[in-house]
Amino acid sequence: MDHFLYRGGVLHAEDVALNEIAAAVGTPFYVYSANTLRRHFRLFDEGLSPLPHLVCFAMKSLSNVAVLKLLGDMGAGIDTVSIGEYLRARAAGVPGERIVFSGVGKTREEMRVALTGGIRQFNVESEPELEALSEVATALGLRAPITIRVNPDVDAKTHAKIATGKKENKFGIPISRAREVYARAAILPGIQIMGIDVHIGSQLTELAPFEAAYQKVAELTALLRADGHQITRLDLGGGLGIPYTRGNEAPPLPEDYCAMVKRVLGHLDCEIEIEPGRLIAGNSGLLVSKVVYVKEGEDRRFLILDAAMNDLVRPAMYDAHHDIVPVIQDSPGAPTVPYDVVGPVCETGDTFAKARALPMLAADDLVAFRSAGAYGAVMASEYNSRPLVPEVLVDGDRWAVIRPRPSYEEMIARDIVPDWI
Ligand code: LLP
Repeated sequence: MDHFLYRGGVLHAEDVALNEIAAAVGTPFYVYSANTLRRHFRLFDEGLSPLPHLVCFAMKSLSNVAVLKLLGDMGAGIDTVSIGEYLRARAAGVPGERIVFSGVGKTREEMRVALTGGIRQFNVESEPELEALSEVATALGLRAPITIRVNPDVDAKTHAKIATGKKENKFGIPISRAREVYARAAILPGIQIMGIDVHIGSQLTELAPFEAAYQKVAELTALLRADGHQITRLDLGGGLGIPYTRGNEAPPLPEDYCAMVKRVLGHLDCEIEIEPGRLIAGNSGLLVSKVVYVKEGEDRRFLILDAAMNDLVRPAMYDAHHDIVPVIQDSPGAPTVPYDVVGPVCETGDTFAKARALPMLAADDLVAFRSAGAYGAVMASEYNSRPLVPEVLVDGDRWAVIRPRPSYEEMIARDIVPDWI
């Protein structure tokens, strides 16, 4: 459920009409619903109760500081994958003890910043990283709290570009070698073992792969404890999928996911951490765009928008589907026509949808891409010298620009022409 509904024939974000925001901000823009974000966070937070737990929002999905503050103020932890993300989370007021640091390529400099600034744990992904972290922490006179990310060799049954839990993927250490690596971690200076980490992929639409991975984590917990390690935390990653096509998809609900976690891992007396990104942010955001032209091709009709692949890359990159709806609702029973929905960027990949049935639209009409809150704005670029798309947050009848559109002058002024040219 989200808070993007038609009222009086106009699509609203909570209590605010999207055409009003468009008139004030211009198009394209992202808009997020604060109450949808809150609701999704609570589903996990309440779903895991009464187990001791921390829901760490995977901020790679949506990293605006205003959103991080909103969730952080509710008690959310944050899953980060770079020091840039860590510093954003800190800027949003999230304390270091609620920030976890994931990722396969943490540099020593990143380790230093996180260790001195305060960090809940590093999710270590390889043996060289473990050795480096030990050296950095020892040099600082600190101990780095860690989990080790294990790769359980489970098929997440999702798009190949976002599956991470098979042995051919670059993530984690093979679960078969876990005891060896934990034994090494236990004797390294500057390292404090806290638990185990796993993340098998994103946009998972079944619980079975999660359950298979978590069973393996439960077995490993027992083995590692028998080896004398203190395992007090299990980080289960993110990955729960969302419905991208209204009415056609029913991925498991957060409640079902949490019930499964409790059933498989609840008896282990561990603090549970999860790292959902898409499920919290995805259906909390829309991309709003304007029709520039309707162009009649030889055998098709193109809807040319002012948003492009640089603003929302998911269709071009993953063949992802986003529902597209008009901001001004069509009268019931009005005919639809098939459009190829495209942006202005100069490549054929800049296609959002093919033969999509939409009501008749004309230049200057507004449309909204649903489910665009996660991996939308964060993956935007300035390709074709199109300034970064702005972001708006709505909370009830209040709204604010939380990242303005840069002017062309600002965009161009970042470049430096050396005096020898
Ligand atoms: N934890 C780790 C270690 C991750 O790598 C990810 C996502 C998450 C948590 C959050 O996963 P989520 O709950 O959002 O599924 N750009 C792609 C998605 C990439 C996901 C990368 N890792 C897309 O647009 O579909």
